[in-house]
Order: sequence, then structure tokens, then C-alpha cells
Amino acid sequence: MTTHSDNAVTPFGSLSAALIDQLRDLNAIRTDRVADAFRAVPRHVFAPDAPVEEVYSNQPIVTKRDERGLAISTVSAPRIQAFMLEQADIQPGMRVLEIGSGGVNAAYIAELVGEAGEVTTMDIDPFVIDRAKRFLPEAGYGQVNVVLADAEFGAPKHAPFDRVVVTVGAWDIPAAWWEQLAPGGLIVVPIRIRSLNRSVAFQLDGGHLVSQSIERAGFVAMQGAGAFGEEVVYLHDDTVALRVDDGQQANGALLAAALKQPRAESWTGVTVGDQEPFDDLDMFLATTLPGFCLLTAHDSAVVEGIVQARPWGSSALFCGGTFAYVVLRQLGPDRHEFGVYGHGTDAEGLAARVVDQINAWNSRHRNGAAPVISAYPAGTPDDQLPGSLVIDKKHTRFTVSWPCRGTRCS
Ligand SMILES: C[S@@+](CC[C@H](N)C(=O)[O-])C[C@H]1O[C@@H](n2cnc3c(N)ncnc32)[C@H](O)[C@@H]1O
Repeated sequence: MTTHSDNAVTPFGSLSAALIDQLRDLNAIRTDRVADAFRAVPRHVFAPDAPVEEVYSNQPIVTKRDERGLAISTVSAPRIQAFMLEQADIQPGMRVLEIGSGGVNAAYIAELVGEAGEVTTMDIDPFVIDRAKRFLPEAGYGQVNVVLADAEFGAPKHAPFDRVVVTVGAWDIPAAWWEQLAPGGLIVVPIRIRSLNRSVAFQLDGGHLVSQSIERAGFVAMQGAGAFGEEVVYLHDDTVALRVDDGQQANGALLAAALKQPRAESWTGVTVGDQEPFDDLDMFLATTLPGFCLLTAHDSAVVEGIVQARPWGSSALFCGGTFAYVVLRQLGPDRHEFGVYGHGTDAEGLAARVVDQINAWNSRHRNGAAPVISAYPAGTPDDQLPGSLVIDKKHTRFTVSWPCRGTRCS
């Protein structure tokens, strides 16, 4: 391990110090240990082709694109790296597996585990692994194990791990990650649940995993044996679509016909401020309503008034030939009210279900404790699962419980 003690007086040192201040302000860096790791690692060594100001700014650097131009490998944005390291709570002497490589994050982890620990970083892409093999020793972290393999099967030669830090968008938690985790260990994984991406720190608790913290985070998607796409159901040309996840079955023809029917509108009386996040509402709807999906639309379809979707997608629900989705209307200069638009044979009924859930979230869970996501191995019987809605993946059965604000749920 190298301590770049001269950083403070180099141009990189001042760029790095400014980045650390910014990450503290964003509450992404919360501990001195993570700040020290960011201070010690010369981030620019891992992205030699990018301008140094960019490397020390809070943005990802794309290192590889696929044939359609979509990013498939990046040096992740520092904010995401920092809060995931905080979520992972990595201590000196630990054995850590990083899934999805690039080098810089493995170097931060090497700083956190110190000389008594061991870091393994793995990637499916030889181009990424070649870079990591080059840059890690160059930056002073030649002790990191660098493995070229599909992470679906973990890195058995280097297991067990106290921490598995996944830096690629996953849809499931493969059995190998559980099997290679030491008792009481943590897996930090950006997981897609019903089309929503969240970085979840899961702790191994006997035969299942329980979430310790949840943060909003988007990543490039997993390739290889664990790749799992969403179904995209187009409702109007290729400009309006429902993203239907987790193998739920949607009838595209019926839903496209539904959009042609007049909409039903319901308003909730529940309001939100201009800059107030409501990720929790999306997650609440996604994990309590079967048929949850995301409505996405090009700007042109919004301008034409075909739908009123948010740029990153609006929470929606489908059932047979009906769908309904969450909208906002302006009430004052910085206040908006949640409403629901429905289309199709039971537009009013489905919209009313979503309205009821928005009210339930507002009265019992808003600004309350974070939900608890539990993951059980596939095959676990229903009666051994907490929560009512089970989200089934290939390896895992997820359930989500929402603690009520205060002492009782009414
Ligand atoms: C966001 S990048 C990793 C960022 C990196 N940890 C850093 O330090 O900034 C995601 C990486 O995951 C890799 N990846 C995708 N699917 C994978 C799989 N099944 N197994 C291992 N790596 C995978 C990609 O090749 C890509 O390099």
C-alpha cells in the first residue's frame, strides 16, 4: 500500500481535497476512514485518458461502450463509490471481494483493509482487467488480486469474504455470493427491484440476508449468466413504454389499446415540495402492489400530451387491459400534489388502488424508518417469509417490510 503523503501539495492533492469536501457536503463521505482512503489513492492513475479535473469531479468516466454506444464500463462517480464504501463498513484486516473492476475502488478498499486484509477485484471483461492489472501496481496497490471471470460464480479461490461490494447493476443475488460470504458478512449491491435501482447493504443473518441501509443508485447492467433484462411494452410507437420487471406478464396489445381510451384522473390531497425527494414512495408502491412497473416516455410524447411521465420514469401499475400511473400537478410556486391517471377498462378502479397506497404511505410511512428488505434462497416456502408481497428472482425471494411511523399501524 502506498501513502501518497505529498498529495496535499500536488495539484492532484488540492483537487482531491476539494472532491473530499464536496463528498462530505453531499453526505456521501461520512467517516474519516473513507475520507482518508480517498486522500491516499491517486485517482488519476486509473483514468489516464481523461482530463484530470474530470477525474476529480463528481461524475463517472466511461471507459468502454457497447456497439450501440451504451456505457458498459466506467470509473464510477465518486459519490456512489463513497456512499457504497460507507454502507460496506470495511474494517482493517477484512477480506473483501469487489465485483466489477476498474481499479480505483479496489485501491480505496485496499486502504480500508490495510496490510492485514485482502482485496480481490473481478470483472468479466478482459479490457477492464488488463487496465486494473496495469493501474493497480502503478498506483501502489499491486497486492490486490485481479480476477477475470463472470461474477455470477463469485471468486471461490479467494473466499471467504467479510464483504462483497458489487459495483455493477444486479438483478439478483447469485447463490455463490451467499456461499462465499463469511458469517455475519455484508453484501453491498445495487439491485434492481421492480425496475427501481437501489444500493442495499445486506447482512447475512443465519439463512437469509437482511438490509442494513438502502440508497438510490444506478449502475451499468450486469453481463454474463446473471444478465436479466426488463420487458419493454410499447404503448405508443417507440415513445411511450411500460418497463415490466421480474418476469411479470403484461399484455402489450391490450395495454396499448388502453392508452387510446380517455383517461380517468384522481387526486390525492398529498403534496410534495419542489426539491423534496420521494424515492420512498416509488419503493413503497413497487413493493406493495403486484403489477408495479415504470412508465417512461420521450419528451415528444409528453409535449404532445400523450402521457405525463417523469424523465426517469413514473411509478405505474398494470392489470389486464388497464394501467394507471402517478402524476404531479402544481399547486403553488413550490408545491405539487400527487395524482393518478388511469387508462383502460378499469381505469377508475386501478387509479383508486394507487391513490389508496399513496395515502397509506403518506399517513404511515412518510419520513419514517427505512423499509427492511429480506432475501431468502429460492425454494423457501411462503409461510417462512415475512411481508406479504414476494418478489421472486432466479436465486432469491425478496420481501419488503415497511415499519410504521410511531408505534402502531392503523
Ligand atoms: C461500473 S463498472 C465498475 C466500476 C469500478 N468498480 C470502479 O472502480 O469505478 C462495472 C463493471 O462491471 C463489469 N461486469 C459486468 N457484468 C459482470 C459480471 N457478470 N461479472 C463481473 N464483472 C461484470 C463490467 O465489465 C464493468 O467493468
